[in-house]
Amino acid sequence: MLSRSLYSQASKALLSQRPRVARSGVLGRISARCLSTFDKHHDVFETLGIQKTNNKGVFDGEWSGSGPIVPSINPVNNQVIAEVVTGTTADLDRALDRVAEAQKIWVEMPIPKRGHVLLAMRDALVKNLQPLGKLVALEMGKILPEGVGEVQEYIDILEYALGLSRMMQGAIIPSERPGHIMLETWNPLGTVGVISAFNFPVAVYGWNSALALVTGNGVLWKPSPTTPLCALAITRILEQTLRQHNLPPALCSLVTGGTDVGVSLTADKRTHVLSFTGSTQVGREVGKVVQGRFGKSILELGGNNAIVVMDDCDIDLAARAILFAAVGTAGQRCTTTRRLIVHESVYDSLIERLIKAYGQVKVGDPLDDGVLCGPLHTEAAVSTYKQVLDSVIKQGGEVLCGGQVLTEGEFEHGNFVVPTLTKVRPDMDIIKNEAFVPILHTMTFKTLDEAIAINNGVAQGLSSSIFTTNPANMFKWIGPKGSDCGIINVNIPTNGAEIGGAFGGEKETGGGRESGSDSWKQYCRRGTCTINYSGALPLAQGINFG
Ligand code: UN1
Repeated sequence: MLSRSLYSQASKALLSQRPRVARSGVLGRISARCLSTFDKHHDVFETLGIQKTNNKGVFDGEWSGSGPIVPSINPVNNQVIAEVVTGTTADLDRALDRVAEAQKIWVEMPIPKRGHVLLAMRDALVKNLQPLGKLVALEMGKILPEGVGEVQEYIDILEYALGLSRMMQGAIIPSERPGHIMLETWNPLGTVGVISAFNFPVAVYGWNSALALVTGNGVLWKPSPTTPLCALAITRILEQTLRQHNLPPALCSLVTGGTDVGVSLTADKRTHVLSFTGSTQVGREVGKVVQGRFGKSILELGGNNAIVVMDDCDIDLAARAILFAAVGTAGQRCTTTRRLIVHESVYDSLIERLIKAYGQVKVGDPLDDGVLCGPLHTEAAVSTYKQVLDSVIKQGGEVLCGGQVLTEGEFEHGNFVVPTLTKVRPDMDIIKNEAFVPILHTMTFKTLDEAIAINNGVAQGLSSSIFTTNPANMFKWIGPKGSDCGIINVNIPTNGAEIGGAFGGEKETGGGRESGSDSWKQYCRRGTCTINYSGALPLAQGINFG
């Protein structure tokens, strides 16, 4: 057992609450602060066509923007990277018409030919992999290998979509009537609206747009207000590729902006499919509005994922996986592990390993070698981190390691926190909600049934994983009495899913599926066709009508 004094020592280590530069306060100092971040990484911005100021944030075949000027901020130092002239609902209105016009041309193209265009998009991304990865790291704050990995995820789904362009098959169904055949067709719905979140500013758009395009739709992207530069860079690359193929570039339109743009996109009947990634709270409203107009929605909402560690598992493997699952992306993936449910007999040895591993995690600039944990995306997230730790203590839990906001030296102006392990009880309220910070709540169990009940005992249902070497445990976990999540892993982390599988979750995670498997069908209308080539008119169910 780790000594109680170590627990309480760490619990008291919550650091100073000194006032931090308010994000909005940065606005006044744009020009002074703009220079350093932008100039330091000038090569990246030049390659990707981003300027310091006057970046137009609307693309509908042409670049424009008539909304507020919004700064993109580097979470390492809260300095402005560059400014974007965002869009308005009027810009959106125009763009939705332009996407629809472009889609009429795109839909005429045979599907394998669409695949060739997607292949060219893939090649353009491969060419720009490093600068794009760096931009993701700069603007979102994730470490460079994860930034590059995110762009790779977009490349992967484009390859998937290319393959799909030769394999998008419907079913042929036996008919009960002589001289009849039944078959299914999959045709595009029209326009797919994509509202993406800050934490995956490239890949989530990539999943949606690759599948929307290959199935014959146009796309309108409304990115997170805090990651507009990634959206601009990607849209520019897509624009170039579409122009090279003599296709209307409005097919991949973009409207950066605030809530008003998102609300209009959600309510607009011209958005046939609305794919929303974000909080459960907002997703619940989005779902109602889209349903109210009988559109289709794909909802990717809150996670609150758990790992179950059985006593028969490979503890070293589990510890390594948990580190990536909980600390990767500074705990800001939908798939991040937030709850660690450990068999009581291996709890102490696992926690000892984890505390050692956590102690070696280098927090710092995401572009620096050896850094595993970059800053939180916003200063508000730092407050959330502090609030969660306060609640853990108030509810009777303990901080096992971490628990500090870093404010000195290189960390002075950034949003840096130390990845944290807590010890809680499964009945505490604090573990019921997802907080997008690197805090992992640990707890114990005695039986697998109890562990599954804890795993399933929250409102969210995105990802889950069990560590075990016993096949009986594995099959129970993936079976009807096992994990109730959309992603159910064995001996791997909860995060880092491949694009080949369907991605999404149950319950308050929203039920949507994106990425691989047959997720492409969500971007289509399904036609059930019965063709009579008999010359007679036999009716189904043996009905004789006159
Ligand atoms: C997200 O956090 O919104 O499985 C997406 C993963 C990534 C995608 C995460 N492939 O962690």
